[in-house]
Amino acid sequence: MDHFLYRDGRLHAEDVPLEAIAAEVGTPFYCYSAATLLRHYRLFDEALSGMPHLVCFAVKSNSNQAILRLLGQAGAGMDVVSGGEYARARAAGVSGDRIVFSGVGKTRGEMRTALEGGIRQFNVESEPEMRALSEVAVSLGVTAPIAVRVNPDVDAKTHAKIATGKSENKFGIPISRAKEVYALAASLPGLEVVGIDVHIGSQLTDLEPFRLAYRKVAALTEELRAAGHDIRRLDLGGGLGIPYTRSNAAPPLPLDYGAMVQEEVGHLGCEVEIEPGRLISGNAGVLVSEVIYVKEGEDRTFLILDAAMNDLVRPSMYDAHHDIVPLAEPAPASEQARYDVVGPVCETGDTFARGRDLAPCAPGDLVAFRSAGAYGAVMASEYNTRPLIPEVLVQGSDWAVIRRRPSFEEIIARDAVPAWLDGDA
Ligand code: LLP
Repeated sequence: MDHFLYRDGRLHAEDVPLEAIAAEVGTPFYCYSAATLLRHYRLFDEALSGMPHLVCFAVKSNSNQAILRLLGQAGAGMDVVSGGEYARARAAGVSGDRIVFSGVGKTRGEMRTALEGGIRQFNVESEPEMRALSEVAVSLGVTAPIAVRVNPDVDAKTHAKIATGKSENKFGIPISRAKEVYALAASLPGLEVVGIDVHIGSQLTDLEPFRLAYRKVAALTEELRAAGHDIRRLDLGGGLGIPYTRSNAAPPLPLDYGAMVQEEVGHLGCEVEIEPGRLISGNAGVLVSEVIYVKEGEDRTFLILDAAMNDLVRPSMYDAHHDIVPLAEPAPASEQARYDVVGPVCETGDTFARGRDLAPCAPGDLVAFRSAGAYGAVMASEYNTRPLIPEVLVQGSDWAVIRRRPSFEEIIARDAVPAWLDGDA
């Protein structure tokens, strides 16, 4: 459920008509609903209420300061994967003891930053990384809390580019070698083993792959405890999928996920951490865009929007589907027109949808891409020197720009022309 609904024939974000925001901010822009973000966070929090737990929002899905502050104030922890994301979480006011640091290639500099600033745990993905972390911790005279990310060799049954739990993927250490890697961890100075970490992929629409992975983690917990390791936390990763279209069967709900977690690992008495991103932020955001032209091709009609692949790359990158809806509600059973929906970028890949049936559109009409709150703004680029688009947060009838559109001058001023090129072109 989200809070983007038609009221009086106009698509609203909570109590605000999106057209009103478009009139002030200009298009394209991202708009997020605070009520939806909080609702999704709380669904997870409640789903795990039978166990000690921390819901760590995957910052990579949406890293705007306002969103992190909103979720942090509601009690969320954060899952970060870079020094930059760590800095964002801290700047948003989240204390280090609620931040887990994931990622396959943490640098020594990033480790140092997190150890100095405070960190709940590093999810370590390899032996070389473990040795590096040990050295950095010793050099700072501190102890680094760690979980080892295990790769359970489970097929997440999702898009190949976002599956992470198979042995051929770069993530984690093979679960079959976990015992020796934990023995190494125990032998290295500056490290304290606190748990086990697993994450098998993103946009999972079935609980079974999770169940298989968590069952393996539960068995490993008992094995490692028997070997003398104090496994007191299980980080079960993120990955629960969202409905991208209203016509498909809906994926399992956080409540079902929580019940499955309780069944598989509840008996171990561990504190459970999860790292959801998409399910919290995905359906809490839309991308609003204006139709520039309707162009008749030989055998199709192109709807040319002012948003492009640089603003929302998911369709180009993963062939992802996003529902596209007009801001003005079409009459019930109104006629449909078939469009290839494209952006202005000079690549055929800049295509949002092929053969999509929509209410007929005219230049100047506004449309919204639904489910764009996760992996939308964060994956945007300035390709074709198209400025990063504004982000807006709505809460009830209040709204605010939470990232403004930069000017061309600001973008150009980031480049530096060396002195030997002085003079006009
Ligand atoms: N934890 C780890 C270690 C991850 O790698 C990820 C996502 C998450 C948590 C959060 O997963 P979520 O709950 O959001 O599914 N750009 C792609 C998705 C990449 C996901 C990468 N890792 C997309 O647009 O579909």
